[in-house]
Amino acid sequence: MNVHGPSAGVGVLFNPALAGFVEHHSDAVDFYSVIPERFWVDHGRGAAPRFAPLPHEVGLLERLAARKPVTAHGIGLSIASASLFDLDYVAQLKDWKRRYGFAWVSEHLAAMRLAGGAGSDHHAGLALPLPWDEELLALLCPRIARVQEALGGPIALENGVEYTPVPHAELSEPAFLNALTARTGCGILLDLHNLHVNERNLGRPARGFIDALDLDTVVEIHIAGGSSLHGIYLDAHSGPCPPEVFALLRQVAPRCRNLRGVTFEFLESYFPSMGEEGVLEQIELAREALRPPEHPPCPSPNSSAHSAT
Ligand SMILES: [Fe+2]
Repeated sequence: MNVHGPSAGVGVLFNPALAGFVEHHSDAVDFYSVIPERFWVDHGRGAAPRFAPLPHEVGLLERLAARKPVTAHGIGLSIASASLFDLDYVAQLKDWKRRYGFAWVSEHLAAMRLAGGAGSDHHAGLALPLPWDEELLALLCPRIARVQEALGGPIALENGVEYTPVPHAELSEPAFLNALTARTGCGILLDLHNLHVNERNLGRPARGFIDALDLDTVVEIHIAGGSSLHGIYLDAHSGPCPPEVFALLRQVAPRCRNLRGVTFEFLESYFPSMGEEGVLEQIELAREALRPPEHPPCPSPNSSAHSAT
């Protein structure tokens, strides 16, 4: 897998509907991204044993890892939850990174879990809105250091969707992410569809976010599709990416000097409407967006005159 922006690899977020795709079309992708939680049962904090591997699913993971590099995209850490920091989960991730040689590990910059009574946690079902402030930075920085110490390298954290932003934030989201990466050395998983969702729902320009973010910290980009429900545009992963997402990808990827991969995400329930050909088409469109233009735009007469002086 290549490691620099314009020639970064293109992958797909694995789901069980792709089992046939893996057999027939693995040449089309450079890597697979996997959600590790899909390969084990988590019996909850305090349970012994806590994690039980699922044999059939682990077999799928082994077939993936035999064909292509695999990256881990965790969904269970909930690193921004003030009420819990799940070090047993981190240890499990560390163990599986060693076992399957994950090329890199990403997680969501999110709070989804709340510590419940008697060891039973609650799950909000979606990411809760976060306050972009120094208090949250102070909570996250030592946690990220612990995670990175366990994993033996940087983790990439993903920007999320804000359906109900916390008002009167101290920092903008990109300024918060820049402070987080500068203080911890973690990377960013830049989800372009999430930026598109925030632009449609909140009128927050995706390009403004990109211009404010330290793009040297971006190691992976997510692309996805969504759908509208009752006037709200949702990050539904419901099929092909909208053209705006590919336009953002063309604009941002060449500026991300440490980009390692672009990953297409979709939910398996939408596979019947896409089929293998639909997935292949999204992968090819991502490759096209990453390709340098054959005929770069000529400098304008004004800019040539300027450079000649
Ligand atoms: Fe994503």
